[in-house]
Amino acid sequence: MTEDHATLLQGGRVVSADGEYDADVLIAGEQIAAVGSVAAPAGATVIDASGCLLLPGLVDNHTHLSMPFMGMWSSDDYDTGTQAAAAGGVTCLVDFAIQREPDQLRSALEDWQGRAAGAAHVDYGFHMAITNANEATIDDMAAIVDAGVSSFKLFMAYKGELMTRDDAMAATMERARDLGALTMVHAENGDVVDLLVTRALQAGNTAAIHHALTRPEFVEAEATSRAARLAEYTGASLFVVHVTCAAAAAEIQAAQQRGVDVSAETCTQYLVNTIDDLRRPGVEGCRYICSPPLRDASNHEPLWDYVRRGILESVSTDHCPFRDEQKARGVDDFSLVPNGLPAIQHRLAKLWDEGVVAGRITPSELVDRTSTTIARRFGLTSKGAIAPGKDADVVVFDPNAPRPYGVATSLMNVDYDLYEGETASGSVRHTLSRGTMVYDRGEILTAPGHGRFVARTGTLGTRGAAVTA
Ligand code: URP
Ligand code: ZN
Ligand code: ZN
Repeated sequence: MTEDHATLLQGGRVVSADGEYDADVLIAGEQIAAVGSVAAPAGATVIDASGCLLLPGLVDNHTHLSMPFMGMWSSDDYDTGTQAAAAGGVTCLVDFAIQREPDQLRSALEDWQGRAAGAAHVDYGFHMAITNANEATIDDMAAIVDAGVSSFKLFMAYKGELMTRDDAMAATMERARDLGALTMVHAENGDVVDLLVTRALQAGNTAAIHHALTRPEFVEAEATSRAARLAEYTGASLFVVHVTCAAAAAEIQAAQQRGVDVSAETCTQYLVNTIDDLRRPGVEGCRYICSPPLRDASNHEPLWDYVRRGILESVSTDHCPFRDEQKARGVDDFSLVPNGLPAIQHRLAKLWDEGVVAGRITPSELVDRTSTTIARRFGLTSKGAIAPGKDADVVVFDPNAPRPYGVATSLMNVDYDLYEGETASGSVRHTLSRGTMVYDRGEILTAPGHGRFVARTGTLGTRGAAVTA
């Protein structure tokens, strides 16, 4: 793609967070040049989009590519994971760099930058997960913000590996507040989970379902409430990741009603899968082990309603895949199963069918919850909308082109698919990233390295500039 090469997406229907309309989209080089009734410039590549929806590239705000976790590595790296992302209409993701050195953060950012550089097919940014918030680490947060990473994550679970203490959480929130950065939390009471897991194993309850039963809804609701109260006390901006159940979402709503600067996401799997998936035999049940766990189906409608009302403002994936041989480590002891699901490729198709086709959300709400609001919340100012001057990140989605789920069509580096045997009613035809066709009807056209690091700046949070601009 030369710097000013033109591409015209002709005859499609643009879906924005505010509405839908028929329009052509002209791309010049890496950016959108015009939206409306546009004649093809001489030499332009013309793509027929008739019958298709033109969506802003999805942003996945929550992924774990090449993540060292529970003694293993998540099985998608930046090459395979971003190919799968593009196949699912994702043009930008924000992954978690995780502190490994006890007293600084910069080495973690360098590690993750090294893994991504030259490998990614779509653009990416990072959040920084703090696992040891001592004075030196807290000091280092400024350097991380200067490097374009303006959100910090704390794990309130995974005792002994990633878990934070409450005093560290408060100190991190205060520093993030002063830096204009966002604090994110994985909200589960890790001490109580640890107790319940120990008791379950002592009682011989080792099957996959006991992963969910030892992480009941109240441990998530309690931690959500605690984090929100600390945000209220410190005046920090808080973002709660992967909210799974109505009890936790109610805590978010209550905090918002008190005026606390708290926002939150859920993930596709919590809207479509249930705790019963963990009852499947052997390694199959282990495939569905993630934290917080999948919940009882009675949570689905309340969660959809929280998404529709924007109290849960976005839907991401928490993509953290492990192959069967990795999951199988815990067939006889659920506590050894690496936590996480392969999901990055399926968010759009699943939310389309379970959300839009099922009448729970509109196409514009889908765009808002999977792209526009995420871009705004996380300071991805060039992403999240089809508008002149924005990056030409566009998904050509055909709502009438069914596509089967399954390992045969998945680009995720896993040897199973959670939705094997099901068929999506619509599918991504093309995904363009900064004007370049990355995904074309099942094929990846880019070389690793097309995707670039996106530095995020500006104050994040409801009170911050990035979200009010
Ligand atoms: O089970 C999960 N969610 N694995 C990834 C790490 C996390 O907690 O987000
Ligand atoms: Zn988590
Ligand atoms: Zn996660």
